[in-house]
Parts: sequence; structure tokens; C-alpha cells
Amino acid sequence: MKITVVGAGAVGATCADNIARKELCEELVLLDIKEGISEGKAQDMMQTAALLGFDTKIIGTTNDYSKTAGSDVVVITSGLPRKPGMTREELIGVNAGIVKGVCENILKHSPNTIIIVISNPMDTMTYLALKSTGLPKNKIIGMGGTLDSSRFKYQLSQHLGCSPADLNAVVVGGHGDTTMIPLIRLATWNSVPVTKFLSEAQQKQVVADTMVGGATLTKLIGTSAWYAPGAAGAAMVEAIVRDEKKLFTCCVALDGEYGQKDICLGVPVTIGKNGWEKILDFGLNAEEQAAFNKSADAVRNMNDVLKTL
Ligand code: LAC
Repeated sequence: MKITVVGAGAVGATCADNIARKELCEELVLLDIKEGISEGKAQDMMQTAALLGFDTKIIGTTNDYSKTAGSDVVVITSGLPRKPGMTREELIGVNAGIVKGVCENILKHSPNTIIIVISNPMDTMTYLALKSTGLPKNKIIGMGGTLDSSRFKYQLSQHLGCSPADLNAVVVGGHGDTTMIPLIRLATWNSVPVTKFLSEAQQKQVVADTMVGGATLTKLIGTSAWYAPGAAGAAMVEAIVRDEKKLFTCCVALDGEYGQKDICLGVPVTIGKNGWEKILDFGLNAEEQAAFNKSADAVRNMNDVLKTL
């Protein structure tokens, strides 16, 4: 098994670190455009192997895509992160060009790979990867909902005083501050609806805090978060590599599911060796479906910007 992470910034490096610690592959390539960064970070990680006890070989390269040849999974994290006060959508001008170039280079050396997209604006970058690679739709997966659902569980756990691991909760729709939809009605604590334990006000607070989860961290840190985004990417890689059929909310191409077409948007899917395998219909109520449609409109407007670049 061979995995490539493109972009050795904080998210890419954290994702690679998680992949290595979990020994998800024999060979892990970390590629970055900036001279020396990926070689340095790869060596730094390799120097933890004796301490942490993993066998994955990590190779860093400055933009030499031939080193990525034959990758089974490629995680794309390239592009600018957001700065405090910025939306993910404002990154489209720069990041679209970067992601398109990365996709072209990756495909030359790994024509059958599965691609996980983390770069922002993630829903539009996933759509761009789908259109520019021409890969089967199951092989293109955007990471957003996996991260947002984990943040949702964190916020719920703070109010419930419970372990986030005991919660089932998903965020569907776009990966934007105003486009994501934390489905609190369907969230459960060991199969009991969380709405049984939380007041209306608490529920509203959890949803609001989840939606600005990334922006809150960007304000605190001064740049985009990386621990949870990197771990989310690695969890998806793990589901593919181990053929887990695990359920994640991911940004995938919709063809009528959830009432939408010709768009990549976050819905519950199973992930296994073929990429995303099955879309689950969670039966949205009228209010949730309306929010989903509004989210789709916003993402579609952003996708239209691609034509003007
Ligand atoms: C975030 C970025 C990765 O939400 O989109 O932290």
C-alpha cells in the first residue's frame, strides 16, 4: 500500500503523522512545492519511528511527482489556509489553480488512485477534482463533513459531560460557516436522542458553535486548524485501506440523492476499498431539506466561479 499526502503544511504533515503512526501503508510520500519542507518534515517524522514503533517509510519530496507513482490513495491539502476573519470561500482564486495542477500531476503517475480533498473551499475543490481528473465519482471524496461531525461531537460532549466517542452525530451540507448543517435532531448519545438531555437554548448553542468551529480556531491560532483536519483525513484513509465500510459524512458527487445533482456536497456515506461506496438516506425533514437546498445553492454559486478563473 502506498499513500501520498500533497502539501506539507500543518494539515498535510499532521495527516501524514497520523497515517504513519497507524501504519496504514508501507510507503508514505509527503510532497510540497516549497524546497526542503517535505524532506525535513518526513525526516523529523521518521525520527519518531523508533520512539513510537511504526514501520511506515516516509519519503519527502520537493514537487517530484514521479516519487508518488502508484499511490493507492492521495490526500490533497495544498493551497493557502485561511487567516482570521477570512471565509474558506475567499481562497478560491488561488487554491483552484493549485488544486487543478496537483490533480493533473497526480494522475500522470497514479491514474487509478482514490483522492481525498482537504483544500478549501473544500466542496468546490472536490467538484474541481472530480471534473478535472475524470476519475469515477466514487474515487473523489471531500473531507469536510468528517471534520465538522467530529467538532459537532466535541461541542455536544461539552454540554452533555460525556465522551465524544459515545456520540453519533453528523453534519451534512457544505463545509462553510453558513452552509454546514449539524443534524441535532438525529444526534444520539448511545442511541438515545441528545435532544432529550439538552434544552432548546443548549441545542441552538451547540449548532452555532459547531458551524463556526473552524473560524473560532483560526481566530485563536492566527491560521487554520490542523490537528482535527489532519486526523479526519487519516481516518478516511484508514477506512479505505482497511476496507472498513465505516460511515462518514463526506463531500461526494450527488446524482439526485438528497434532491441534488451535478454538485459535490456533504452526505452520509460508507467508505471502503473502492472509495465512497454507498450514500445513506437519513430522511431529512422539510426544514433540514430546505437548509440542505440552500447550502447546495451557495456551493453551486461558488462552483460557478470556477468558470471565471
Ligand atoms: C477547518 C479547515 C481545515 O475547518 O477547513 O479547520
